[in-house]
Amino acid sequence: MPETTVDGTIVDTVTEVPVAVVGAGPAGLMLAHLLGRAGVESAVLDLRTRAEIETTHRAGILEADVARDLVETGVGDRILREGQEHTGTELRVGGRPYRIDFRELVGASVWLYPQTEVFKDLADARERDGGTAHFGVRDTEVLDVGTDAPRVRFTAADGTRHELRARYQVAWFGVMAQAPSSAEELVYAQSDRGFALISRRTETVQRMYFQCAPDERVEDWPEERIWATLQERVAGEDGFRLTEGPVLERTVLRFRSFVQEPMRWGSLLLAGDAAHTVPPTGARGLNLALHDVKVLAGVLTRALGREGEPALDAYQPAALRRVWRAQHFSSWMTRLLHTPPGATPFELRRQLGELDCVVGTRAGRAYLAEQYTGWPSADR
Ligand code: PHB
Repeated sequence: MPETTVDGTIVDTVTEVPVAVVGAGPAGLMLAHLLGRAGVESAVLDLRTRAEIETTHRAGILEADVARDLVETGVGDRILREGQEHTGTELRVGGRPYRIDFRELVGASVWLYPQTEVFKDLADARERDGGTAHFGVRDTEVLDVGTDAPRVRFTAADGTRHELRARYQVAWFGVMAQAPSSAEELVYAQSDRGFALISRRTETVQRMYFQCAPDERVEDWPEERIWATLQERVAGEDGFRLTEGPVLERTVLRFRSFVQEPMRWGSLLLAGDAAHTVPPTGARGLNLALHDVKVLAGVLTRALGREGEPALDAYQPAALRRVWRAQHFSSWMTRLLHTPPGATPFELRRQLGELDCVVGTRAGRAYLAEQYTGWPSADR
């Protein structure tokens, strides 16, 4: 279905992606490849078709470190098989040959391996790894680069119009305050000024968070500004007010989401934050970590007993399903409750429609309750 963008332009799709790469030559594709290995999604575009780039002859020599990087990141097999290592070169001066022996002189060599082949290897890797690359696009426009919500718009090879939008970046401003609790239970507040969460640590210490920009500086937030921001985000017809008191601590918490798959490398088993991170909105992080180690304790015990190492095979399948559920729930709660910077009026109304489905129907409330309280373990 066509969508209207922030500036009123109508496009066929709007896609959120953390990084848009304009130019799908070897550098653009290598960037996407390296980001992919670091768990960062991207979309790469190029005006040229794949066939055009593949047949545009350019460079032919890879220096030692570049070849090594390609090999070490899994896109250099063909360099080793089909490339030629050159340990020197000849300079002909006035008809006389002079060999420059790289290896002897500096202990290095270079590889003769054409740019077209580097491109093919990287383009194949994007395909193999399920990355997004659009070739043969037209009318590329890079928009709003001075803001934290940049966009890239283009016409795809089939004539459809698309917009890529940097995934909206939110962070939480975390506050610890010496003040009696404002509510018996946690309050997750959506408001047109942004999200706020009221939690607590003890009867007299409140733990609170409010949505802020990822580059927010704690120095810019004196106590009065913090309280005013929190109060206006929770205010409502019922006259709800937070009990105020001295702010003991303030921190900006940036959101990150990743899953390290596989969760097992031989006898190294990853659990908790080493294996995954979720945005804090769904309160899943610690719970997920403790579920991982519950499964892990079981398989390690079995592996050290009669079953031996094969018992370790059961770890990832038992842990990973919950990891992806939590990944989904945390990003769903985040989108449900935060105000995306640069959102269109349409998007804001759609979000209110979604919130209405959650709070206004029993099934909606049950869905949230089931995810929030955690899924039963396999052994329950
Ligand atoms: C907290 O109390 O620190 C807390 C509670 C719920 C969340 C995140 C953090 O979703």
